[in-house]
Amino acid sequence: MPTLGVKVKEPVTFVIFGATGDLTRRKLLPALYTLFRDNALPEAFDIIGFARRKHDDRSFCELMQDALREHSRTPVDDASLAEFCSHLSYHRGDLSDPAAFKTLNERFNGNDSLPANRLFYLSIAADLVEQTVSQMHAAELITQPKASPWTRVVVEKPFGGDLQSAQVLNQILLTHLDESQIYRIDHYLGKETVQNILSFRFANTIFEPVFNRTYVDHIEITAAETAGMESGRGAFYDRTGALRDMVANHLFQLLCFVTMEPPDGLDARAIRAEKIKILHALRPAAALPGHPAGCFGQYTGGDGVPAFREEDRVAPDSTTETFAALRMEINNWRWASVPIYLRTGKRMPKKSTEIAIQFRIPAMQLFQHVACAGDVCDLTGVKPNTLIFRIQPDEGIFLQVSAKRPSMQLVVEGVDMDFSYSEKWNKELPEAYERLLLDAMRGDSTLFTRSDEVEAEWTVIEAIRNATKDQPLAPYAAGSWGPPEADAVMLSSGWKNE
Ligand code: BG6
Repeated sequence: MPTLGVKVKEPVTFVIFGATGDLTRRKLLPALYTLFRDNALPEAFDIIGFARRKHDDRSFCELMQDALREHSRTPVDDASLAEFCSHLSYHRGDLSDPAAFKTLNERFNGNDSLPANRLFYLSIAADLVEQTVSQMHAAELITQPKASPWTRVVVEKPFGGDLQSAQVLNQILLTHLDESQIYRIDHYLGKETVQNILSFRFANTIFEPVFNRTYVDHIEITAAETAGMESGRGAFYDRTGALRDMVANHLFQLLCFVTMEPPDGLDARAIRAEKIKILHALRPAAALPGHPAGCFGQYTGGDGVPAFREEDRVAPDSTTETFAALRMEINNWRWASVPIYLRTGKRMPKKSTEIAIQFRIPAMQLFQHVACAGDVCDLTGVKPNTLIFRIQPDEGIFLQVSAKRPSMQLVVEGVDMDFSYSEKWNKELPEAYERLLLDAMRGDSTLFTRSDEVEAEWTVIEAIRNATKDQPLAPYAAGSWGPPEADAVMLSSGWKNE
């Protein structure tokens, strides 16, 4: 498993395709800037922004400085911004134009000061990836695999739009690149708590023995967002929807980390080998009377918030889901018949991503029969144990247990055992992109997704589509926890809405 705080030793040129886009401004440049300020980047590094818009080095630098002032978590000052900018340059070009790639290659060949190791970041729409990689190949920008200087290509999600397009994309990438050169990014894997799931499960003795169907009643994974279609995201999102945007990658990856078998090591091979087994065993649960396997919703407007169909660059008759709730199963020895609930949505009451593992209630209901000194005890507080991995915000791990309330009566109530990152370490956690960019520069692909994983993810999405094709799209009010119909997806207690 990679570690932060280690300086990248090899010189690198970082080329960003889609350099004037939202992701570059909000995430990539701020992450690179923080790494730069933390002295984690190599002595020799260059960042080339490749895009169509009219800029020169200077105006691109100004654009990026504005972005850093707005989005950097590391404090910015004029001197360090200027120093950072001395590593930045702009390469204007169209992805369909071979000449733009040729001149890019000439920069590597003609300029000795440009580091020859190259990391290409494809921050572009999925349907442009094929063209871009073919152009890179034709312009001889791609060096030999496992050789020096190296070439690595980071591909943003969603990787394809369905199983077939992902397979085609994999084939094309693998025509020009070796699997070891491809870094399919899922930024959830760079989040601190996600990685801590593995430490928590496998560095402690007490939890792993109860992580199975004998003790676990169900697992609930929620990724709720307050955001809607800000920053012109409507066009992308209307084509993509919650299932493909969040479930097919982020939620499935969280699910893999929390349910996979212990790996035989912490390297990419060992971890990916276990994750793929989960994805192969994952499937939508069968619909039961009154309990569909899934529910999809779309937000309506109100309170100054537009409905999804009124958002910028969204079709007024769009049927894209902005909310999904699913009941899944993992068909293996450890998890058979344990319901796994996945839920994600835009315009929810708060931003919250967490995994809640709810354990079974004790076999013997001892406390239901307790009478307290002529009085009846308040038993409503007895709750099943729940272990919560809070991914964001207030990252931490919480265990809910039942304890006797101090009094002369035997009253049992739920209490929390908390481990909160901010209380323990009182320092800001690294951003997911910082970790992942550093790993890509170091050649560590543990936290990136392999081709067969991506295809397995799409296979499950197709199974979900088939299993839920009769489910109508349910409206929900912006600022609510989704359509009321979603409650029926759950078999027992309601969703954890807090
Ligand atoms: C992205 C999705 O991958 O993740 C967005 O495309 C979503 O729609 C975002 O908003 C959520 O990321 P985070 O880190 O803010 O939870």
